[in-house]
Amino acid sequence: MRLIDGKIISASVKERVKDEVAILKEQGITTGLAVIIVGEDPASKVYVANKKKACEALGIISEEYALPENTTQEELLKLIDELNNKASINGILCQLPLPKHLDEQAVINAILPEKDVDAFHPQNVGKIMLGDYDFVPCTPAGIMEMLQYENIDISGKTCVVIGRSNIVGKPMGMLLLHKNGTVTICHSRTKDLASVCKEADVLVAAVGRPNFVTADMVKEGAVVIDVGINRVDGKLVGDVDFQNVKDKCSAITPVPGGVGPMTIAMLMQNTLTAAKKQNKR
Ligand code: GUN
Repeated sequence: MRLIDGKIISASVKERVKDEVAILKEQGITTGLAVIIVGEDPASKVYVANKKKACEALGIISEEYALPENTTQEELLKLIDELNNKASINGILCQLPLPKHLDEQAVINAILPEKDVDAFHPQNVGKIMLGDYDFVPCTPAGIMEMLQYENIDISGKTCVVIGRSNIVGKPMGMLLLHKNGTVTICHSRTKDLASVCKEADVLVAAVGRPNFVTADMVKEGAVVIDVGINRVDGKLVGDVDFQNVKDKCSAITPVPGGVGPMTIAMLMQNTLTAAKKQNKR
């Protein structure tokens, strides 16, 4: 079994981005990311702090907008409008989930597609489906980067994605399809999930339930990608029962230190892409 090390692979992506950010800077072009967080969700606060740290390490200017829980839709849309029109900001990310009184899709729709480094805007979602895109949602993008780094060929493989979210499952399925995988997306209504998973050469778990994928669901020699970040007794665990699955598969991502660090690296990559596009590079 090979451990797919997200720390090493993300470091190589960030190194690449850092070099390109520096080259742009020599040409008088700055790279800037605005991160909006509404409310006090502790997990979201950690993610946003990590994004800010990554920006600083790579020479990307980061602006954080921490808004109170009771922020209105109008106030949030007004901020997005300002950032859409701010030349020094190339990318805008609004941390999800938003407090319940806010309309998440309306907020996503308000972000200029050229600055939508999450690739959540309908225009960017559509472009991914067409296979002609600038931005890819950070988590699926990070997984594709890992597979490529590990020389894992997708063409003709049976790929099973567990989870159908707009952030991970759906775009993940589409990216694997673009690489000529035969893709199945499973969800809570899937019949006999275990036997579907057992067919997978590449299994991506994005369920959000600790130890959901057990050894009996995994084919001998499969590649297993664990997107889960679950906290159990203060410890981070994935969606995969790592201890029992690891000896069955050919390669697996750990939690922590797998997909997580990749997500931030790909956000940095998308921010660089945005800066380049906006400056016609
Ligand atoms: N919340 C969890 N993952 C993400 C992400 O990739 N982007 C944003 N904006 N919010 C998230």
